[in-house]
Amino acid sequence: MKVSAIIPAAGSGERFGEEKQFKLLSGRPLFFHTLKLFLQSDYIDEIIVAVPSANVDSTHRDVLSMSAGKPVKVVAGGTRRQDSVKNGIDVSDSDSTLVCVHDAARPFVTEDLIQRSISACEFADGAVVGIPSKDTVKFSENGLVKETLDREKIWLAQTPQCFHKNKLLQALYYAKTENLTGTDESALMEAMGFSIKLVEGDSNNFKITTKDDWIRAEIVAVRQAQGTVL
Ligand code: C5P
Repeated sequence: MKVSAIIPAAGSGERFGEEKQFKLLSGRPLFFHTLKLFLQSDYIDEIIVAVPSANVDSTHRDVLSMSAGKPVKVVAGGTRRQDSVKNGIDVSDSDSTLVCVHDAARPFVTEDLIQRSISACEFADGAVVGIPSKDTVKFSENGLVKETLDREKIWLAQTPQCFHKNKLLQALYYAKTENLTGTDESALMEAMGFSIKLVEGDSNNFKITTKDDWIRAEIVAVRQAQGTVL
């Protein structure tokens, strides 16, 4: 079984205030940290990085120097995250049967999370890494609580999210025809009725969305370098 990793890194950084994927974390662009873990992974056969179209050539030059034999392709992303993922699948190896999508903005993914999310696809159409909610979650409308959700059933989704490639393509096609936008690819698979397994994630596998997340990432990166990360 061949696995293609897709790293969407084509966001505009609206909430962050700049294109954070190229901002230096411990001296290297953020997405390099994420890419490095997939380059080192024994479970990934090729990697496709989606970046803003203006950055395709420079990113391609940069990744060539670190790819160490594993195929890495760089494509232009799309308007929405799911469009960036679709552009990645379109250039994936025709022999790959599994796609492993991982946000560029989650640089502390581990080999264990990659392996467990891939393995979980043996018994489901896809698998999503997530963490059980510790907080009570309120469903709201117009600033008023409509409902308190059963905390035992709430998971906060992370990535990697791995899917059988043919099924993810069906879900992306369905989303296009039905005009659906998902905040992750799992939502599009769920809309098709596909079975998605949950795999317990890791609190260090957080997504860098705000400047506060960036400060946390700098602390984790320093602790990792010292070997003192929790
Ligand atoms: O928007 P969100 O925080 O979910 O973005 C998650 C990841 O998707 C980020 O790594 C971002 O760069 C990427 N993305 C993308 N193409 C877009 C929007 C987001 O590759 N059009």
